[in-house]
Amino acid sequence: MDTGVESNLVSFVTGAYILAALLFILALAGLSKHETARRGNAFGMAGMALALVSTLLLVLQRFGDVPDDTSVAVGLVIILVTMGIGAAIGIRLAQRVEMTGMPELIAMMHSFVGLAAVLVGYNTYIETASLHGIATDAVHAGEIFVGVFIGAVTFTGSIVANLKLSARMKSAPMMLPGRHLLNLAILVVSAILMVWFMVADGWPAIAPLVIMTALALLLGFHLVAAIGGGDMPVVVSMLNSYSGWAAAAAGFMLGNNLLIVTGALVGSSGAILSYIMCRAMNRSFVSVIAGGFGSDGAVSGEARDYGEHREIQADDVADLLAHASSVVITPGYGMAVAQAQYPVAEMTKKLRAKGVEVRFGIHPVAGRLPGHMNVLLAEAKVPYDIVLEMDEINDDLPDTDVVLVIGANDTVNPAAMEEPGSPIAGMPVIEVWKAREVIVFKRSMATGYAGVQNPLFFKENTQMLFGDAKDKVNEIVAALG
Ligand code: TAP
Repeated sequence: MDTGVESNLVSFVTGAYILAALLFILALAGLSKHETARRGNAFGMAGMALALVSTLLLVLQRFGDVPDDTSVAVGLVIILVTMGIGAAIGIRLAQRVEMTGMPELIAMMHSFVGLAAVLVGYNTYIETASLHGIATDAVHAGEIFVGVFIGAVTFTGSIVANLKLSARMKSAPMMLPGRHLLNLAILVVSAILMVWFMVADGWPAIAPLVIMTALALLLGFHLVAAIGGGDMPVVVSMLNSYSGWAAAAAGFMLGNNLLIVTGALVGSSGAILSYIMCRAMNRSFVSVIAGGFGSDGAVSGEARDYGEHREIQADDVADLLAHASSVVITPGYGMAVAQAQYPVAEMTKKLRAKGVEVRFGIHPVAGRLPGHMNVLLAEAKVPYDIVLEMDEINDDLPDTDVVLVIGANDTVNPAAMEEPGSPIAGMPVIEVWKAREVIVFKRSMATGYAGVQNPLFFKENTQMLFGDAKDKVNEIVAALG
């Protein structure tokens, strides 16, 4: 290719990369509020399209440099075909996935990023070693090693997260004896292997890389398997962060600045989100990333006898609501499963028209992904100003006439405050039992995600309304007239 055209192309791609990085920053800023989330998504898509096109241009330029080299043409065809297959699978999955299935899909995607970092690491090593007959310089070797390590941990960790979130693996923490020592030993051995890899020459250097990969795969599995159900939200955002660092490491290996910037953005925003979620759930950040540190000895409250529960019918709930002056609704995962947000919005409208004050109390980890409830309520056009955070609503609950717990369980469990041995002990909850009357909408007496029994169901001021949340709310709407 003509050198002038080539340098123009390189400048264009550099400019496009900077623009794409800016678009990614705007995407993150937009996604921080519901009102601007759509715009944020659009910025992200534009940035990604720009990044893909510019990278393809770079490949084409290489093709132009060596017109006789059919391997470049073959490479280009492989890229385009793989992108096509990836896009088709991505579109199909995005169309099919339910909101409730998003966290496991996200976990699966993180595993791909991890696997990609491992493959890029091996490829970089093999390419350099075959070209130069030596491993590579020490700094580059360090980049490869760290990239493969983070990638392998992310890969198996995300697969375990996917299995736990989709209930194909038990959500209870796996408690191996000496598990923290095991993690520490893997870290120490990997550090020693890294030194070996950095100083070794030629093909023997692949040995420490392969041994470390096996150890890192084991570490990823073990770190996430040791984390209990209630702490999974933090794990998902933590793996999001790891996948960002894995992508940044791949960027260093490939010498691709945009990948480094994007990886760092994902890595740091994931870390900040994990930290915020840990604070919201009263968990220590270090404990969670160290693989469930501190969850030793937690016993489930399931075996306890909490006494009898009382039942109520939809008509009686409608009557109770029509005579109340203040009502708080605390939705959870069950509202999402039942898709009850539309009748809930309808019921809210009817009650407000009757002069009842209706507000929503949202727990930070209600549902299966951050902001899950807010998105559902916004979708059903519930006004933002009556949707309050847990901290904003908790103080008002003692003066509230009726609380409707719609498909929530762990997030309203008093055991978190009253039972120090509970797996969810210390996690802040919405203190619904302080209201005058509590109605719990669910289908059975089954436990919530964390697998812990809920003493709320047996309190004197609680009544259970059994059945699908959507059907029951519809019955209440009909009875309200
Ligand atoms: P959960 O504790 O999971 O409880 C959901 C309740 O909904 C269950 O008790 C279930 O009881 C009921 N339910 C399910 N389908 C229903 C339907 N069709 N109609 C009526 N009720 C239905 O939910 P939560 O209170 O929202 O707490 C969230 C939990 O998920 C926390 O433990 C949290 O740590 C975890 N988690 C959260 C996230 C994020 S980021 N938010 C991610 C992963 C995990 P029945 O089966 O008896 O109906």
